[in-house]
Amino acid sequence: MSMQNLDIRDFRRALSQFPTGVTVITTRDEQGEPVGVTASSFNSVSIDPPLILWSIDKGAHSLATFENTEFFAVNVLSRDQVETSNRFASRGEDKFKDVEYTQGVGDSPLLSDYSAQFECKTWAVYEGGDHLILVGEVIDYRYRDSNLPLVFTRGSYSVSSQHPSTVTYEKPDQSGAFISDYLLYMLRESYNRFSADLYPLLQAKGDVNPEEWRILAMVRDRGAITLEALAPIVMQPEVALLQTIDWMVDKGLVQLQDNTLALLPEGRRRADELLALAKQHEAQVLMGLSEEQSLQLKNGLKVIMASHA
Ligand SMILES: Cc1cc2nc3c(=O)[nH]c(=O)nc-3n(C[C@H](O)[C@H](O)[C@H](O)COP(=O)(O)O)c2cc1C
Repeated sequence: MSMQNLDIRDFRRALSQFPTGVTVITTRDEQGEPVGVTASSFNSVSIDPPLILWSIDKGAHSLATFENTEFFAVNVLSRDQVETSNRFASRGEDKFKDVEYTQGVGDSPLLSDYSAQFECKTWAVYEGGDHLILVGEVIDYRYRDSNLPLVFTRGSYSVSSQHPSTVTYEKPDQSGAFISDYLLYMLRESYNRFSADLYPLLQAKGDVNPEEWRILAMVRDRGAITLEALAPIVMQPEVALLQTIDWMVDKGLVQLQDNTLALLPEGRRRADELLALAKQHEAQVLMGLSEEQSLQLKNGLKVIMASHA
């Protein structure tokens, strides 16, 4: 492929296969006002000296502030901070309204909720095409081990979970007696195993990836829906959701009008076909259970979910 004919949309999609965390980078502008942007480009660079980096879009409103600031803070978000991520990804004037924070080095805002926090002194600013690369020397840091981090991949917010075990459930390890009878472990293993079968099936039979499948199923259930309402249900920030929808429009599955998404006849047909496929797959998953046992299992899970709503 000649990179001169780079398909930007496709390139973005390739890059999004690499999962990242999500941070809010904060500082103060020249007037002393707090400034913050959501950034997933954060990464570690060096241990000695302790350096980190992130990159900022040259089109960002806060570009000049970050380019010239002496200090900034990196707030690594926890999995409960999707709303915070969306808020700082917007162009809103008043991003800090109702956000709890304290002052760090150089008065950079330190969000009260975080998974980790790095207070930095600007170490270098490099050119990086349509971005600037900002390298910071870490002056202070802290983290909360019990706060699971927020993950971002394929345009969706996600949570990290331990990789499925290679120990088969049929032959549990003796030392794993507790684990193999522990509900959380069983739920996660069941989910991991069955979703691993389902997604390739949906791709092969319906030419949809997991993100597109979620949107199709949701719009089929709820009818036409605004992007604002859909984004939190499918756990995508609106910019990323627009990109996913762009692909679905190209495939003739959906139409977007006045910010409202609706299924086209082909989208409805595909959704019905895939829902039938998912039901079939579910029947296979439940094959070892009687009808009554399946019902009890589902009812039990509904009670658990409702009690944690
Ligand atoms: C998950 C996620 C990750 C993002 N990562 C970056 C990033 O690394 N660098 C960047 O410049 N913008 C990134 N953005 C976009 C900015 O947050 C967004 O453009 C914001 O409006 C910038 O704020 P400002 O215009 O007030 O400076 C990201 C957005 C989201 C939702």
